[in-house]
Amino acid sequence: MVVGDFATEVDVLVVGGGPGGYVAAIRAAQLGKKVVLVDKDELGGVCLNRGCIPSKAIIHAADEAHKMKNSQHMGIEVDGVKINFADMIKWKDSVVKKLTGGVGSLLKGNKVEVIQGEVYFSGEDTVKVATESNSTTYQFNHCIIATGSRPFEIPSLKFDGKKIISSTEALSLDEIPEKMVIVGGGYIGLELGTAYSKLGTQVTVLEGMDSILPGVDPSMVRMVNRNLKKLGVEVVTGAMVQSADKSGKDVTVTAEVKGEEKTFSADKVLVAVGRKPNTDEIGLDLAGIETDDKGIIPVDRQMRTKNSKIFAIGDVAGQPMLAHKASYEGKVAAEAIAGQTSEVDYRAMPYVIFTDPELAYTGLTEKEAKEQGYDVKVSRFSFAANGRALSLDAAEGFFQIVADKETSQVLGAQIVGPEASSLISEVVLAMEMGANTEDIALTIHAHPTLPETFMEAAEGIMGNAIHMVNK
Ligand code: NAI
Repeated sequence: MVVGDFATEVDVLVVGGGPGGYVAAIRAAQLGKKVVLVDKDELGGVCLNRGCIPSKAIIHAADEAHKMKNSQHMGIEVDGVKINFADMIKWKDSVVKKLTGGVGSLLKGNKVEVIQGEVYFSGEDTVKVATESNSTTYQFNHCIIATGSRPFEIPSLKFDGKKIISSTEALSLDEIPEKMVIVGGGYIGLELGTAYSKLGTQVTVLEGMDSILPGVDPSMVRMVNRNLKKLGVEVVTGAMVQSADKSGKDVTVTAEVKGEEKTFSADKVLVAVGRKPNTDEIGLDLAGIETDDKGIIPVDRQMRTKNSKIFAIGDVAGQPMLAHKASYEGKVAAEAIAGQTSEVDYRAMPYVIFTDPELAYTGLTEKEAKEQGYDVKVSRFSFAANGRALSLDAAEGFFQIVADKETSQVLGAQIVGPEASSLISEVVLAMEMGANTEDIALTIHAHPTLPETFMEAAEGIMGNAIHMVNK
């Protein structure tokens, strides 16, 4: 409907078509809203196009190649594994294309109108949408901002897309780099560093803090460190990067390492030092919304901003910048717009890092639980005692549960090992259902499978695990 002479009225306007925005749009449509979704780029956002999905495809392909080269002990001798990197990238692109196409069909099937264009707020309930051919003003009853984030740029190491790159370029390189310096030993640096190392690149990770993956339980990080070393990845901690010299064939990065100046050369420098919310170029001030000093939009438990008509979800609403958090918040925002009482509860947020071995955790660590006043019990079951892990030739790591001593309720879990990324879902479900360790122990787990380690760890809390000696 056209309002006055110039504005098109819309019920719910979703800005951004990533895992936050498209999910919010579908849920709002399911709840009877007339929804318009605007994205300036392809549907699927960073996650599908330049993040989670393409990186997992490359990580998997690199892992397959690595395993082939390292399976002699299982009696598999492969003569000369050859990697056709261009074909690997093509396959990765085909995976991305299938998923982005699927998002378009889902939006269409839910009668969400999709516009390719750029959004700029022009008032408290209006936006201008600039497409290739025109500029239209929309007046919305509600708006959901889901514009995501972009790689954070270090001023002295500006991205040039060729020698100094972000994760975006790292997922679409023409050839496997000979040497790669990675600035930042966080999620991206370690996932891609591991993958490129398995493809044959000589990788150096420069991490500013005392440890890679700062904030992650040190007992988990230890195992990743050990494997990086085995792969031949050089990890330098306490390394604050200062500058880069691109004048030669290679790039030379200068960093201060524990008070000493050191240089590191490579043909590619991947900078992965965090992400910045995309909130600076959409005219938020005209909508009456302010961000904090990191560019994050403050929201309430229904994802509503200071402007009650406008909601913000995903990376623009703050850490953790994870796709599944964005989708979850999108559903809550859409339901709030439809008048439901939904609110966010992050107690059982899963964190997953696709290193080798994989890491996954949720809820509280032992230390955090104690700090919160719980009398805790911790049980750790080793994958080395699990038949399936051994038969997968992946028996490194453990499944650890932190439980409340009084009620036996699961407060959190830390997993390092095979399929940790999938196994964490069982813990998240248990926590959501308010399960205690007896519930988990009484659940029949198929044998031989990896999730048996969860059952055993739960039994360990009660002192009756079968496949380990109870303390
Ligand atoms: P990050 O926050 O995970 O890690 C950045 C690292 O860079 C930190 O360890 C930090 O101490 C270090 N650092 C910062 N400034 C530095 C400097 N000047 N010199 C050296 N080190 C420096 O950020 P990252 O890896 O860029 O990833 C961004 C976000 O993307 C993650 O936080 C995560 O939310 C998301 N992500 C999630 C994945 C998953 O769920 N599996 C995979 C990849 C990314």
